[in-house]
Amino acid sequence: MSVDQDKIFSIRTRLDRPLVLVGMMGVGKSRLGKMLAEVLDVPFSDSDEEIERAAGLSVSEIFEKYGEAHFRDGERRVIKRLLEQHKGVIATGGGAVMNPETAREIANQSIAVWIKADLDVMIERTSRTDRRPLLKNGDPKSILAGLMQVRYPVYEQAPIHVDSSTGETEDIVNNVLGQIQILMEREETGMGRNG
Ligand code: S3P
Repeated sequence: MSVDQDKIFSIRTRLDRPLVLVGMMGVGKSRLGKMLAEVLDVPFSDSDEEIERAAGLSVSEIFEKYGEAHFRDGERRVIKRLLEQHKGVIATGGGAVMNPETAREIANQSIAVWIKADLDVMIERTSRTDRRPLLKNGDPKSILAGLMQVRYPVYEQAPIHVDSSTGETEDIVNNVLGQIQILMEREETGMGRNG
């Protein structure tokens, strides 16, 4: 992948907290997160994978056996731990930031990156597997559309927004990196995290 090495250097020398990818199912958080971690040469974690490892069960099995509330509680704890553990890249499950405590911790302790995509793209990408319990009981299109309505106001609070619907992965990764660099330079020149 071709990335501007000056940009990478500039980010790496300033990176003092993790990058956390948020957004709906099927937008490519894990795939893009792995690539970002690779180009920045930092660790990568996926909150769903960490929950699965801790439970010894898949996300679907946790939903089936113990219910969504139990999964959400594990998700909150796993993300809290990951935020404390490393300054790399963390991909979160689509519903993670709907827990206000998790949303607050992500806002305070990381740089949140909202990965978004068109509804049709999400439908197509999520239809490739049956790993998503929330899409099993009904029409995926209306379920996703309903979740978008509730979740977008929360995702929107991330300082960085990137659309992954179209274009080369390399360009999407470069777009994220460019926005991170701008954010960090603004912080450094005293314009603050939200300036
Ligand atoms: C969920 C998204 C999934 C997973 C679980 C619930 C959600 O992760 O955490 O199935 O509530 O949107 P991905 O966003 O990685 O698909």
